Parts: sequence; structure tokens; C-alpha cells
Amino acid sequence: MSRPVTVDKRTKSLFAGCSEEEIIKRAQRVRDEAIKRDIRYGCISQLYFLETHLHKNPFYKEYLHQYGGLYDKKAADIGCCLGTDTRQLLLDGLECRNLVAFDVSESFISLGFQLFEDSDSQLALRFFAKSVLDTDLAAFIEEKYGLGPLDFALVNSVLHSFDESLAKIAVRNIASLLKSKGHILGYIPTKVDSPVQLPAGSDAYRFYHTESSLQKLLEENGFESIKVHSISIQEMFPSFHPTEETGMEDRLNITFFIANKRK
Ligand SMILES: C[S@@+](CC[C@H](N)C(=O)[O-])C[C@H]1O[C@@H](n2cnc3c(N)ncnc32)[C@H](O)[C@@H]1O
Repeated sequence: MSRPVTVDKRTKSLFAGCSEEEIIKRAQRVRDEAIKRDIRYGCISQLYFLETHLHKNPFYKEYLHQYGGLYDKKAADIGCCLGTDTRQLLLDGLECRNLVAFDVSESFISLGFQLFEDSDSQLALRFFAKSVLDTDLAAFIEEKYGLGPLDFALVNSVLHSFDESLAKIAVRNIASLLKSKGHILGYIPTKVDSPVQLPAGSDAYRFYHTESSLQKLLEENGFESIKVHSISIQEMFPSFHPTEETGMEDRLNITFFIANKRK
């Protein structure tokens, strides 16, 4: 079952000058291309990449308010996929020269350029393919982009991709990118009762944390002042329906989080 595709106001503003019809056409083309490349993520087949979820995160709004916006901030979008949130950060005031975005999949990044048709822009230079598990991440960003310790790292829907031991490496690496007291900000799907490790699959290796196991993961790997807030997955994605393809079960929550790097 495919969901009816609509383009909300925020999404429209990511595609300057494009009609809704054109945006949907491009999105469907990108989805078909992804399927050809055997990419089977639910967020691609369901066209969720057409929505930015940044503004659903109460801690993002709080951050903008508390720290005077994004203009002078340095940031990374980690596991950026097609770069929808990356482009939203720019619309929200982040300067291109203060931004990097990366994903382990080069394919996602290139599909993002097909979607937004901005491969000739300055922004294109800010994307790269790399894993958050690479221990040279901070050095790479410093050397290639001259971008020193960052104010915040956006990690939307990525940390559930790893089992417990890899998640520790990911969180420590993210901490290594940040200045003292810098922020990690993001969300993951969570379970209410107890953490669940799904069996390893080709592209569906998932560990569902609970609010408290997520807090523990952050606390034990370089962060403090951790705040979490959960909503149901249906509230986050109103058209969500569990499918074999998405591999996502019903009765999941979405947990937003923010934390400071410990000094
Ligand atoms: C569910 S998608 C979320 C994408 C995007 N952040 C969003 O919120 O729409 C998970 C993303 O994490 C990326 N990812 C998985 N493992 C990664 C790794 N080791 N390093 C960097 N990105 C990774 C995937 O390629 C995918 O784009």
C-alpha cells in the first residue's frame, strides 16, 4: 500500500521555484532509481525523505531559541541520507561554510542531488561519504574542511543502526567532533519496555533502545545534561504503517534527545 503523497509548506521551501507536481515527480524518480540500486529503506520507498522532521524536535526549537539561532554555529548532519534536514538547517540560518553532512552511503548523497538538483552549488562540496564509526572523523573534517570543534551534531534516526558496542563507538566519535559543552541532537525509534536487538540483515540491522538505555548510552560515552522526549511513531509520521519492507514494527515511539558533551 502506498501512501498519498503531499508536499507540505516546509518541504516546498526546500525546492525554491518548484511546483508540487514537479517535486513529487522528482521524488518518485529518485525512489525508482533507489530501487534499481537495490536500496530498500522504508524512508525511501515511502518518500519520507520529502519531509524534514527537524521542527518536530522540541529540543531543536529550544536550541534555536536558547543559543540565538544557527547563524554563527558549526554543525554536522550525521547519516544525512538525501540531505533533506541538511538543507533545512541552511534555510534555518546555518551558513554553508559552517556545515558538513555525511552518510556511509554515497548513493544516498547522490540521490539527494538528483532530488534537489543542486549538484553545482557550494553545498555539494559540503557532503561526503564516510562512516560515523571511522575513528579519524574529527581529523578528516578538520583537514578537509578546516572546521574545528563543532557546536552541534545532528543525528536523526541513525543510532539504531548499530548494535550496542558499535553504538558506543559512534557516540564517542560524535563527541570527538564537538567543542566542550557542544550538543548532540536527534531522534531514534525506541521501544517502551526493554531494548530489542533485531537479527542482523543486509540493510536492516537495528537496535531499538528505550529512553533509559539511550540515556545510558550517551552518559557513558561522553555526554551529560541529557534530555529525552518521546512521542508515538504515528504522531511523528502520520502516514506511517508498518510494512515488511520498512521492517519497522508497530508500537514504536520516537524519542528526541539532546545532550551536552562533557568537559
Ligand atoms: C533512517 S535513515 C535517516 C536519515 C536522515 N538522517 C533522516 O532523518 O531522514 C539512516 C541513515 O543513516 C545512515 N547510516 C547508517 N550507518 C551509518 C554509518 N555507519 N555512518 C554514517 N551514516 C550511516 C544510512 O545510510 C541512512 O542514510
